[in-house]
Amino acid sequence: MNSKILNIIVLVSGRGSNLQALIDGIQAGHLISKVTAVLSNKDSVQALERAQKAGIACLVVPSKGKPKELFQEELLAAVSNLEPDLIVLAGFMKILSPAFIKRFENQIINIHPALLPAFPGLNAQKQALDAGVKTTGCTVHFVDEGCDTGPVILQKTEDILDSDTEETLSARLLKKEHTALVEAVKLIEENKVVLQGRQTLLRNEP
Ligand code: GRF
Repeated sequence: MNSKILNIIVLVSGRGSNLQALIDGIQAGHLISKVTAVLSNKDSVQALERAQKAGIACLVVPSKGKPKELFQEELLAAVSNLEPDLIVLAGFMKILSPAFIKRFENQIINIHPALLPAFPGLNAQKQALDAGVKTTGCTVHFVDEGCDTGPVILQKTEDILDSDTEETLSARLLKKEHTALVEAVKLIEENKVVLQGRQTLLRNEP
């Protein structure tokens, strides 16, 4: 199999459970790639503690109290220095600049807690509950300039129960997110994801 060890950078803003799923996936041998750095726009977040514990380099590029453009420039410079093969947005709460997306075209993926294109943006679980849908899920997708609009790599579904609250649904979805993210990174490291316009095709044999 034509697998490639990817230099992965994970961008975070908070809890970091999806980062943890990647760390665990690597430690368990499900993935051959390496998370070489975790970059946060906030200091003192749990994601950075998780990275430190795993011996991964941590970087903070603060977004607070500075013009958006300056933050975007600093972020692009910091990530470029790391020469990543793959950038994973795992609960990163900032919009990437068009320059960033162009520089790392088709190298950025995001995990979103809904079946895109349904319920993009914030509070996707609440959006699903408010809409009264019976099934939602999570999506791993390439990042383009839109909000949660890039080509879908994979999705997992989750049925909504009558008794669900935002908390109970989010908790079940999060477990699916963790599996989906590791699976998506595995597909990419095995060179099985082929982009064709807005679609991705999954190759059986690389
Ligand atoms: C996840 O629900 C993810 O889908 C969304 O933000 C949340 C991040 O959670 N983009 P965590 O920080 O990975 O625990």
